[in-house]
Amino acid sequence: PLVSMTEMLNKAKEGGYAVGQFNLNNLEFTQAILQAAQEEQSPVILGVSEGAGRYMGGFKTVVAIVKALMEDYKITVPVAIHLDHGSSFESCAKAIHAGFTSVMIDASHHPFEENIETTSKVVELAHFHGVSVEAELGVVGGQEDDVIADGVIYADPKECEELVTRTGIDCLAPALGSVHGPYKGEPNLGFTEMEQIGSATGVPLVLHGGTGIPTKDIQKAISYGTAKINVNTENQIASAKTVRQVLADQPEQYDPRKYLGPARDSIKETVQGKMREFGSSNKA
Ligand code: G3H
Ligand code: ZN
Repeated sequence: PLVSMTEMLNKAKEGGYAVGQFNLNNLEFTQAILQAAQEEQSPVILGVSEGAGRYMGGFKTVVAIVKALMEDYKITVPVAIHLDHGSSFESCAKAIHAGFTSVMIDASHHPFEENIETTSKVVELAHFHGVSVEAELGVVGGQEDDVIADGVIYADPKECEELVTRTGIDCLAPALGSVHGPYKGEPNLGFTEMEQIGSATGVPLVLHGGTGIPTKDIQKAISYGTAKINVNTENQIASAKTVRQVLADQPEQYDPRKYLGPARDSIKETVQGKMREFGSSNKA
């Protein structure tokens, strides 16, 4: 069923595992991620950035595709459609009215009081519709669609606690050294802060930039209260690699099903691997 993130993340936090957010890029990504979740019997969060939403036709198109696929594929595991890095109240409202079951309001680049104000407005509207809300503090490095950051700023634990109590968000993404896209060298995550923020706020934590984080760090993050891990780049790399391979092997090939079909399989395989690594398999 289509659900918000609240229950799946609270269960994950309690159970000591994390639910993956896998970003949609097109129809094949949507198919692959839903199939992976069903086969793994795992809850899943479909992340939709504003850019990906635009690419796929709009928020309503995304919701219609997901709902139709869930019916055709007979999906029984919990699925959330989540706006990733929502840039404004208006964008979150548009996603909620299009049928998203969860939104992230990323007002982390605004002054703290403004972040609180915008996030509170989103929470009010979202909760009225039974939609869950994720907010962010600090700066995640790298670039993802419209979100560009050239430094990494660690979230402040005091501010995290205040943001959670004053806004009533369902989960929090404290930037603690993670990066969107591939890491240059080993990631250096702020586990001391993570542990502090996890226990001070009580809400499930979200780890952005899940691509390229070693398993030992994933396990540590989960043990400090991380219950949602976002992955996009790794699936994009897997899919592009397969397309390149097929077209190199068959230079005369022009049927998209012949190169996007195998790409879809490699996305599915990558997602299943992540679900096992995050411990969400058989937790539906
Ligand atoms: O919000 C989406 C993610 O944080 C994805 O990060 O592309 O580095 O896996 P990634
Ligand atoms: Zn992110």
